[in-house]
Amino acid sequence: MRAVEIDRFGGVEELHIVEDRQQPSPAEGEVLVEVTGAGVNPIDYKIRDGSSGVAQKLTEADFPLVLGREGAGVVAELGPGVTDLEVGQRVFGMAPMGHPGGWYAQYVVQPASALAPSPEGVADEILAGSALAGITAWTAVHDLGQVRADDIVLVHGAGGGVGQFVVQLCLAAGAGVYAVASPRHRERLESYGAHYVDYTSEDFTQVTPSPTLIVDGVYFGTYEPSMDHLAPGGRIVMLPTLADLTPAKERGIEISVPAIAPDRERLCALAQQIADGALHVLISEVVPLAQVARAHEIVETGHTQGKVVLDVDLES
Ligand SMILES: NC(=O)c1ccc[n+]([C@@H]2O[C@H](COP(=O)([O-])OP(=O)(O)OC[C@H]3O[C@@H](n4cnc5c(N)ncnc54)[C@H](OP(=O)(O)O)[C@@H]3O)[C@@H](O)[C@H]2O)c1
Repeated sequence: MRAVEIDRFGGVEELHIVEDRQQPSPAEGEVLVEVTGAGVNPIDYKIRDGSSGVAQKLTEADFPLVLGREGAGVVAELGPGVTDLEVGQRVFGMAPMGHPGGWYAQYVVQPASALAPSPEGVADEILAGSALAGITAWTAVHDLGQVRADDIVLVHGAGGGVGQFVVQLCLAAGAGVYAVASPRHRERLESYGAHYVDYTSEDFTQVTPSPTLIVDGVYFGTYEPSMDHLAPGGRIVMLPTLADLTPAKERGIEISVPAIAPDRERLCALAQQIADGALHVLISEVVPLAQVARAHEIVETGHTQGKVVLDVDLES
């Protein structure tokens, strides 16, 4: 099968397309998915260059490694014991932590529990980029942030993959949301109902009330001023997993980082909200699989609008 492999950690030049990768087979509890689209996430380039915690746990046996931690497609084969999905069914999902991934390929094997049925009327292009960011946002906002209607939430990185979900989930919970992003995200964030803050021309600490909850998808440059600006008793949810939480803890601030896991019930709830039009997902770029290096370069700039998705076979 066709796949994007890396033989070793490094720059985008390490990404190469092969046509003869052996198609994986589903074991007990697993499903073979014929992939239509794969979401591109910051963790993908952090695995590619070896800097992420996930990369550090990989062994030689995992190489050549197929990247990609989420996507959409069609069930091609069921492993033994899988009774709740059907061959031919459209699905989307994300790899669990500790799983090597593999969505940048024509076929991927995933645990059945990491997949959910795709709702009618929502394109694979959207769903391919929704599982990982959606689950991250849900974990950040509900499990860790425990957002309430009386919260004032400040979101750094509001226009990006996870940020767009965080903003909308907090608004749906009734909270007031200050969405910090560069101006090209302004119209979209205001259309969701958020107060927009332009970090390129404004100091967020001067133009927003003290937040009771901060969800920070940026970390570098935002952490220190966020701690100073947080309301007494406020909480911070930091998205980058390698963030140093010590400075906040030393100040007695409740701070956490999401540890994400696929969850079919949550994936179904997110998909239903997308289908109903309650949750908007911007896919700003759909990049052919052959141009995977360009997709990584876009995401690696750190200024992605919504999500970037790889077209594996979206026309099917
Ligand atoms: N803990 C987990 O399990 C988990 C899961 C998913 C992601 N993450 C991490 O969370 C972070 C965000 O992920 P993502 O997928 O949302 O990334 P992303 O799509 O690249 O979004 C980041 C956003 O931040 C904006 N930004 C950059 N500098 C900013 C600043 N100073 N203030 C406000 N916004 C700024 C960027 O655009 P503009 O500059 O144009 O506004 C961009 O839209 C990454 O570090 C990722 O690795 C962690």
